Amino acid sequence: MKIAIFPGDGIGSEVTREAVRVLEALDLPGLTLFEGDVGAIAYHRHGHPLPPETLAMANASDAVLFGAVGDPSCDNLARHLRPEQAVLGLRSELGLFANLRPATVFSGLEDMSGLRPELARTIDMLIVRELNGDVYFGDKGIREIDGGEREGWDMMSYSESEVRRIAHSGFQAAQKRGGKLCSVDKANVLETSQVWRDTVIAVAREYPDVELSHMYVDNAAMQMVKDPGQFDVILTGNLFGDILSDLASMCVGSIGLLASASLGERQTDYGTFGLYEPIHGSAPDIAGQGKANPMATILSAAMMLRHSFGKADQAERIEAAVSNALADGIRGGDLGGTLGTQAIGDAVLERL
Ligand code: IPM
Ligand code: MG
Repeated sequence: MKIAIFPGDGIGSEVTREAVRVLEALDLPGLTLFEGDVGAIAYHRHGHPLPPETLAMANASDAVLFGAVGDPSCDNLARHLRPEQAVLGLRSELGLFANLRPATVFSGLEDMSGLRPELARTIDMLIVRELNGDVYFGDKGIREIDGGEREGWDMMSYSESEVRRIAHSGFQAAQKRGGKLCSVDKANVLETSQVWRDTVIAVAREYPDVELSHMYVDNAAMQMVKDPGQFDVILTGNLFGDILSDLASMCVGSIGLLASASLGERQTDYGTFGLYEPIHGSAPDIAGQGKANPMATILSAAMMLRHSFGKADQAERIEAAVSNALADGIRGGDLGGTLGTQAIGDAVLERL
């Protein structure tokens, strides 16, 4: 079982270190970890945020554990050299089109939510975000228009086949959970969303056991704050999913708690190949200080064991250890506490 570890920039290396300790503590036979450079650190060492050797390493692995990318030192580089291109490049090169972002409130953390505790308590949703298309990967550019001013433009599009495959992921996820799927789009304004909605409705015929609803993205943002308990699975495109998953994280209480899995079609000897990463970024403001909460990355490692290695029992062990640590009052700065990255890792390991 080969896992490629790509810590990346900022707090990425701090949080992945703790997740690696957790993986190693499980003592799984045949587990091999190897490490590669991505992001700003890769740009500075190799001249590219996603060097060919890193991509080759990902391709040779059964799963990738990814930290975070992004560094102010790269803000003025041409877009194709910016650190973010590492994760976007991996997602597209590896065909990882289905991004699963679960958001659930841990018991004892209801007070940390941006919402009232009685609302926070009801949160148990999964955002299924399309990851290979949309305005993220369309043609884009900056052109000069009349009067010499600059105009930025980004092309948004979704084809039926792109929507169809992510819709299947969404419906199948709903079948395994509460049986409800809410498709989020902006079909009142965007043609991209019209194709999205029509296609989701067509796919729904294959899933009569799933209750399908549709919501415009602006209303979905409002509903997530007003009544988050109404959501089971949210199915949405790349851009809307990016925004709604950060919103969901604050409903849960901290972005330091949200894990994610990015899956495609490739099967390995053990399960579905995937890339696993916390949904947070590299947080350059606190990088190198050992302050970041590693739980989102630890929980991402748990998702890896479940989806890529068929080890749901080990995944549950990790999830229980995190949940018990939180219930025991283990808190980093993101949750109003004082514990550092390593101390939080220690607390999870003890409970494991
Ligand atoms: C995320 C991040 C990325 C995204 C960035 C780093 C490119 O915000 O994974 O949510 O926009 O997808
Ligand atoms: Mg994001």
